[in-house]
Amino acid sequence: MDIQQIYLKAFNNLDAIYYDHQKEEDFYSFIPCDVEGFLNVLVQTIDILGEDKTKKFLDVGCGIGTKMLLASSAFDVYGIEVRNKYIQVAKTLGMEQVFELNALDFCHYCDFDVIYFFTPIRNKELEKQLEIKIYTDAKDGAIIIPFGKKLNWDELPNVERSGDLYFKRHK
Ligand SMILES: C[S@@+](CC[C@H](N)C(=O)[O-])C[C@H]1O[C@@H](n2cnc3c(N)ncnc32)[C@H](O)[C@@H]1O
Repeated sequence: MDIQQIYLKAFNNLDAIYYDHQKEEDFYSFIPCDVEGFLNVLVQTIDILGEDKTKKFLDVGCGIGTKMLLASSAFDVYGIEVRNKYIQVAKTLGMEQVFELNALDFCHYCDFDVIYFFTPIRNKELEKQLEIKIYTDAKDGAIIIPFGKKLNWDELPNVERSGDLYFKRHK
């Protein structure tokens, strides 16, 4: 096993400890994105933006903050999370910049250079509403990483795609 695989396993294990099977009506609980998939898009994003702590990265529905921790190696990282119990864990990982609220009520998507999410909302219509809000509010040039998306991002106007990354472009 090489050093990368050890890190990968450590992060996957950490996510697995807090994996939450609890079923809520509208929102997903903490069901983490697999670390390898996340690292692939993180590396692509770093290839584009460089390691730059002036760039703001947002995890919408950040859970316990493991993806924030990984992204914090390159960017100024923030999270939004509706459940306080996960935010408390994120804090123990040193992830302090978490807004405790419903992502549908967040008014500052336009402040971020990178917006990542992994389907926070179980209710398909509400999830689509959230994705439309993120798409509408994101600033020109923002990179959006919509994992588990419910909206057809390829059909949205003023969006360009490169692999799993989407770029908001005002024409
Ligand atoms: C599927 S998990 C993804 C966790 C993490 N982002 C990842 O990629 O591993 C979704 C997270 O979103 C949170 N969440 C669900 N609905 C939300 C909402 N409306 N606003 C903010 N967070 C929400 C859940 O509590 C959960 O922690």
